[in-house]
Amino acid sequence: MNDILNDIKTFEAEAIARLNSVLDKQALDALKIELLGRKGKLADFSKAISKVSDEMRPQIGAAVNRLRKLFEEHIASKEQTFASAVKKQTIDYTLPVRADFLGHKHPLLQTVDDIVDIFKSMGFEIASGPDVETDYYNFDALNTPEDHPARDLSDTFYLKKGVLLRTHTSPVQIRTMEKHKPPVRIIAPGRCYRSDYPDASHSPVFYQCEGLYVDEGVSMADLKGVITAFARTMFGKDIKVRFRPHFFPFTEPSVEYDFSCVICGGKGCRVCKNNGWLEISGAGMVDPEVFRAVGYDSEKYTGYAFGMGVDRITLLRYRIDDIRLLYENDVRFIRQF
Ligand code: PHE
Repeated sequence: MNDILNDIKTFEAEAIARLNSVLDKQALDALKIELLGRKGKLADFSKAISKVSDEMRPQIGAAVNRLRKLFEEHIASKEQTFASAVKKQTIDYTLPVRADFLGHKHPLLQTVDDIVDIFKSMGFEIASGPDVETDYYNFDALNTPEDHPARDLSDTFYLKKGVLLRTHTSPVQIRTMEKHKPPVRIIAPGRCYRSDYPDASHSPVFYQCEGLYVDEGVSMADLKGVITAFARTMFGKDIKVRFRPHFFPFTEPSVEYDFSCVICGGKGCRVCKNNGWLEISGAGMVDPEVFRAVGYDSEKYTGYAFGMGVDRITLLRYRIDDIRLLYENDVRFIRQF
């Protein structure tokens, strides 16, 4: 009768060795049936119990039960190992890489870069000044009298008396000329601030790009030539530029300048309100009063200055119809550029 106990021992060793070397779920399932199934080896031993002597029965019964428990534990732990391996395998390493979204420059700053590049190619250098300015640089030195409407609290954000957020980039003209003798030829992009209520074409924060060229014999024709060259590089060779008489305290004569509509080519459309022209900004010949403020000899030197609405140009080149989109920083919008 000890034979059965020996058989059980041998069977145990064999079975455990096989369980340990099982490599996948399928093989494990098959082995599970073979070991624990109704027609399995363990069932044969159970059946044999009835045939053994009364005194051996409890011993063999206990050995068979122990074995069943042992197999069950081994199988359960193997099953767990395979299940977690399956979970890991749900990563498909053969899929193409999905690149994380890379950031890029805001469309406004891309436009600033492009404007600056075009003027650099024409010999302009970059200049800059602070966003927080004094009355002197923003107004006085630019020949803007105390009673000028632009000084009004309703247009200008004053931080305290005499200190404000610049309302245009023109103060950079003064800061540059104070530091450098002529000739100067600069382009100065930057943020400006005006107390405007936001709507589709107004934002209390906006970008301008100032241009200034002072030398001997600079004329209005040079101004128009440079602006036209810029317009054609930016929007295409068919763009026309038109000057309309205007007034600025710091230029004389002064103009507002327009580009022929970049959307309809000048025929008239919704964007140009059917008149074929788009207003871009102001310009003119530097007023002798401004030269006096910076100590330039206005008998010897002349110069032109121009502003440029960077927001307007960005809206036009990307066909955007609301300036507020440029300042809301909604990534769903910004990602498109
Ligand atoms: N600073 C003016 C504005 O903000 C534009 C301008 C610049 C006009 C230079 C003339 C010369 O409207």
